[in-house]
Amino acid sequence: LSGPVAVASDPATDLVWVVGEFSHSVSVVACDPAAPSAHSVTVASFSVGEGARGIVLAPDGRTAYVDVGFDHQVAELRLPDGASSVASGDAIERAEPTRVGRRKVEDRYLSPLAQQGRRMFNDGTNTHLTPFGVVTCGSCHPSAGDDAMAWRIETSDETTREIARKVRRTPTAWQVDPAVKPLHWDGEFTSSDDLTLTTIQRLLGGDGLLVDARAISAYMAEVAAPPAAPTGAASASKAVVAGRKAFVDAGCATCHTDPTGTDGKPHDVLSPSSAPDAGLDAAITPSLTAVRGRAPYGHDGRAPDLAALLDQHGDGSGGTIRLSPEERAAVIAYLGSR
Ligand code: HEC
Ligand code: HEC
Repeated sequence: LSGPVAVASDPATDLVWVVGEFSHSVSVVACDPAAPSAHSVTVASFSVGEGARGIVLAPDGRTAYVDVGFDHQVAELRLPDGASSVASGDAIERAEPTRVGRRKVEDRYLSPLAQQGRRMFNDGTNTHLTPFGVVTCGSCHPSAGDDAMAWRIETSDETTREIARKVRRTPTAWQVDPAVKPLHWDGEFTSSDDLTLTTIQRLLGGDGLLVDARAISAYMAEVAAPPAAPTGAASASKAVVAGRKAFVDAGCATCHTDPTGTDGKPHDVLSPSSAPDAGLDAAITPSLTAVRGRAPYGHDGRAPDLAALLDQHGDGSGGTIRLSPEERAAVIAYLGSR
């Protein structure tokens, strides 16, 4: 099971149904609340198709309905008779869904190539992508977003056998356009295809040979960012307007340019990182799209919230950006609206 994304349970049977998004499967696990979890037994396992995300149980506790997103269908799963009494060590049959309902959708949101890329991005079963079947792009970029983590990434140079290490906050992988901003915090990639193949080979351990990097790039270019925050009460939108003004007056917009909030250039604006392997002299200005939901902030994930980030944010010429408490609150309200 890879990419557990949804669960359903029935207290009457102690069975927990777990949807594995990247393994395209549903596992039914018997969990005795009194026994240690090591004793849990998978009593049934279903192949359900790609992009499985949600599950509900019927009142009988033995039938489940699964939303299989990328296949645009709902699968009905029925527990085989006697499945709940399977003991550990027994062979587990993988069953197909008993019935599927399909809904017809047009290619309205993503082109056919990007839909293909979305499947690869979230596929833990393709050995050219991920030989161990555990980690895939979607593991760290759920729905092409981010996992709110800073990762310590190691790569070895085959010729010198030296190992390079870096700690980097996962950025989002939606609306990826290297023409707006080169990719990675240090801007090392100017092509999505290059980034994709290198990531498959260095990070996931796959060969990437039969994987179409163009499809993954198309998905990352097309998939929408989360929508801007709804404008709430009038007082809130007043604060947003004041915040926008303070944002421009303080010089933020010279680097965080409209419309996405990045000039695509490297700047040295944070003090040296306190985390080992997290140093970076100059980071490419990050986009501010949906920045409200992207804590922790900074290339090393040092700031738990926007206030903490702004307290450490330099002006790019060796000085610190100074905002009065009122301006800082207004700027945060403005960023919260993006
Ligand atoms: C272990 C978690 C992890 C996995 C798995 C992963 N990424 Fe990332 N991704 C990261 C981190 C961390 C960075 C930042 C790296 C850096 O800046 O040096 C990143 C950066 C990126 C970026 C650059 C975004 C930007 O704005 O600069 C893209 C695009 C991306 N990843 C796509 C992918 C694709 C495609 C895959 C699968 C082939 C993938 N990632 C797998 C963690 C991950
Ligand atoms: C000199 C260019 C420059 C100016 C001016 C500037 N920024 Fe930044 N900003 C950056 C860079 C570069 C980073 C990434 C720094 C890092 O992570 O090492 C960044 C990071 C951020 C982040 C974190 C985003 C994330 O995804 O982690 C926010 C929020 C932000 N800036 C807001 C502001 C605000 C508000 C102002 C004005 C008060 C401002 N910036 C002024 C270049 C600039």
